[in-house]
Amino acid sequence: MDSSAPLLAQARSRTRGHRVQVVAGDFHALPLRTRSAALAVAAFCLYHSATPAAALSELRRCLRPGGVLIAATKSTTSYRELDQLIAASGLDPEAASRPSLYRTVHSGNLDQLVHAALTVRYIRHDEHVFRFDDLDQVAAYLATSPKYHLPSELLGHPEALTRALKNRLPNRPITTTSTVTYVIGVRDE
Ligand SMILES: C[S@@+](CC[C@H](N)C(=O)[O-])C[C@H]1O[C@@H](n2cnc3c(N)ncnc32)[C@H](O)[C@@H]1O
Repeated sequence: MDSSAPLLAQARSRTRGHRVQVVAGDFHALPLRTRSAALAVAAFCLYHSATPAAALSELRRCLRPGGVLIAATKSTTSYRELDQLIAASGLDPEAASRPSLYRTVHSGNLDQLVHAALTVRYIRHDEHVFRFDDLDQVAAYLATSPKYHLPSELLGHPEALTRALKNRLPNRPITTTSTVTYVIGVRDE
């Protein structure tokens, strides 16, 4: 389930031939019956919500007693090396001072948010290091990120963004870091 048509199209294509139903919807008003689901996975999406407690309460509504939620998010400091790179390029000078994408649901508060709705059974923090070999790889990632305020001719155009970055910065490997956090919660009754 997702609210984005392109994401749903990709999910349909990846799951073709399997018994999977892809559904459009909003995680604040899930198109599911109350107490119907054995398992819910909210992977790297709740941070889009300005009211994550409401989204978690909605996930609880849909879980049956004994039902399990796996929620995953990242730290507020994730990929700040990319923020610095984009700011240094001059393409988005405010990139390093803009609030984190993960400000409402992050590694530091995911357990408390789940705890308000469910019984927390497991918390795990993994340190991830991502290495981009060159600016081409950086641009392929950045062109999909909602965080940056890039000129419209570069948004969604990784090749044009690569050229713009290479005109402004030395082409070199870029290492970025993130904490990825998983919390498992159970609906007791
Ligand atoms: C980083 S992507 C993760 C997609 C997928 N869960 C995964 O792990 O590959 C975040 C997704 O959250 C979706 N999203 C944002 N707000 C949403 C909402 N209110 N209801 C449903 N999906 C939402 C976006 O459309 C986007 O596809």
